[in-house]
Amino acid sequence: ASIVEEHVSEMLRSEREDEECADVDWDNLGFSLVPTDYMFATRSCREGNFEQGCLSRYGNMELNPAAGILNYGQGLIEGMKAYRREDGRVFMFRPELNAMRMKNGAERMCMHSPSVQHFMEGVKQTVLANRRWVPPPGKGSLYLRPLLFGSGASLGVSAASEYTFVVFGSPVQNYFKEGTAALNLYVEEVVPRAYLGGTGAVKAISNYGPVLDAMRRAKARGFSDVLYLDAETKKNIEEVSAANIFLVKGNTIVTPATNGTILRGITRESVIEIALDLGYEVEERVVPVAELKEAEEVFCTGTAAGIASVGSITFQNTRTEYKVGDGLVTQQLRSILVGIQTGSIQDTKNWVLEI
Ligand code: PLP
Ligand code: COI
Repeated sequence: ASIVEEHVSEMLRSEREDEECADVDWDNLGFSLVPTDYMFATRSCREGNFEQGCLSRYGNMELNPAAGILNYGQGLIEGMKAYRREDGRVFMFRPELNAMRMKNGAERMCMHSPSVQHFMEGVKQTVLANRRWVPPPGKGSLYLRPLLFGSGASLGVSAASEYTFVVFGSPVQNYFKEGTAALNLYVEEVVPRAYLGGTGAVKAISNYGPVLDAMRRAKARGFSDVLYLDAETKKNIEEVSAANIFLVKGNTIVTPATNGTILRGITRESVIEIALDLGYEVEERVVPVAELKEAEEVFCTGTAAGIASVGSITFQNTRTEYKVGDGLVTQQLRSILVGIQTGSIQDTKNWVLEI
């Protein structure tokens, strides 16, 4: 393009960037990548301190072929959401917990990590710069994906000498192709997601690749996703590919305890607190797969998944069905969580943060 053409297209682009909302079909968002205008990036030096960092146009990044992430899998992701309210203000849900989880994950993976404040700064800048991509109220949210990875080069197996922290975003609505309809889960008996002493409790990118085949097999058979068992005994349920799981049994809500193999979801923690406030008993413990038959309602929780109703779980060719439309406990918990996130319920817990 000529200089004049480039100038004109830059002008048009910045005019469009003044719009309140980007030109997106807001009624048909799923969970696929919609590129936004900017991303944030910063790098650490050998001493582990990160540069201030800055925004740049969203696009490809350069990597050394010997980078730690490419060769030895030093990488962590986070997932968080920004919501637009009727009055135009934008809020996030418990973002410091994501920052702290990334810090813990970095320790486990022998990586430098940005401070909680620096993480928050990167996320805030990314949200503000991409404000027009935060969907209108009720149409979804801007999903933020913070990434931390070894960008320094090394040939032998060792921790990278330099790390890069990046934040990008994409407007999203429902994570599952089922939309808000109930999920049909498949209990995977062969491939575990995590094992004792492994990295199941941190959001390492290397937790996801090894289960893609199990997910593909389940989806090919018409299931929504996979429910994994513990690697040791294959008798107890752990979690879904990208969400934690809960069983409702009368006034008791049961979820697998986080013993190092399960991600301590921020939605999970929040749902437990809401349930306790409402007077439910909450049990965090070992949950035998056989107990799935005893639940009235089942749901899974995650930033991307929200609180998703589970309609059935299939284990060893036996399908157990759960209350869905009239799954009152799931509905009650969902309406409170979503209410706090989107501002229709007053946030008495200091969980939301205006950006
Ligand atoms: N479990 C796994 C494996 C995940 O990837 C996620 C997604 O973040 C969750 C659980 C839910 O965690 P959170 O509620 O913090 O999003
Ligand atoms: C999330 O809920 O934020 C996730 O990370 C889920 C998935 C897309 C990895």
